[in-house]
Amino acid sequence: RWTTSSIVDEQVARIREQVGDGKAICGLSGGVDSAVAAALVQRAIGDRLTCVFVDHGLLRAGERAQVERDFVAATGVNLVTVDARERFLDALRGVTDPEQKRKIIGREFIRVFEQAERDLKAEGDYGFLVQGTLYPDVVESGGGSGAANIKSHHNVGGLPDDLQFTLVEPLRALFKDEVRRVGAELGLPETIVQRQPFPGPGLGIRIIGEVTQERLDILRRADAIAREELTTAGLDRQIWQCPVVLLADVRSVGVQGDGRTYGHPVVLRPVSSEDAMTADWTRLPYEVLERISTRITNEVNEVNRVVLDVTSKPPGTIEWE
Ligand code: XMP
Repeated sequence: RWTTSSIVDEQVARIREQVGDGKAICGLSGGVDSAVAAALVQRAIGDRLTCVFVDHGLLRAGERAQVERDFVAATGVNLVTVDARERFLDALRGVTDPEQKRKIIGREFIRVFEQAERDLKAEGDYGFLVQGTLYPDVVESGGGSGAANIKSHHNVGGLPDDLQFTLVEPLRALFKDEVRRVGAELGLPETIVQRQPFPGPGLGIRIIGEVTQERLDILRRADAIAREELTTAGLDRQIWQCPVVLLADVRSVGVQGDGRTYGHPVVLRPVSSEDAMTADWTRLPYEVLERISTRITNEVNEVNRVVLDVTSKPPGTIEWE
């Protein structure tokens, strides 16, 4: 029977054998998989690993700090952050179509990441690229069972043709729960190990309408409140995730204090799920919904209405775009 520490030991030995005295690069997304893969490789080869984190400006409040501060503190890893916020905003200007947004974000992400790889390669002999591929990813892409391509998913990865890397994939035999246990064993903080899923295109697909700096700020503040209240209520383990969606092109009339408001609605989309293929809308306690609604409308000026999505998947997907 496998214990978590024997998985760690075995993977560390394998990585050492594979990489020898070479150097490796790992893209961090802020998610569990890339963080645990990086921590394993760091355990195995120390500062011959360099991590790259692309800030595309579509992150939630505090996520960059979680990587730059908490992950680095826990692992001591070398980290390069690429600030690409302007670039993504420019590329997304005027774009409202969901698939278009996803393609642009995916494309820009790969370009920025490849440039970072090139820069690193120019200054050191990086021959290895670490990826947080899990067992279900392996099965999914090999099996070709062909779940219809409903949305183009975007993840860190995709090997550029002109850069020669050997892949290091230390999580290839593991399921998500094992990955979380390995992460905990390696000393990663709860905020990283127990993180709920968050899509690669980030808040870009949770703003219905054009993505702008101002809209991102609004959504980030509303999302932070919802997450804080759900965590305080002890509901993080019960829900799979709770996207907060800004209906940026919709306005409705409200009243606050003595005045009329004409603001935007945000949608709460709490879901329960085993694997995200199907999902049920979560029956959150009314008190929690009330606190979230009151706080968002009080603290986020531009939002004057909070609505609840009570659609399961199918027919709705979890994300709105
Ligand atoms: P949907 O909206 O398809 O989402 O029901 C299913 C799960 O996948 C997440 N999601 C993504 N994850 N890249 C990712 O890494 C993506 O492009 C992407 N799109 C959706 C979503 O948050 C949910 O957990």
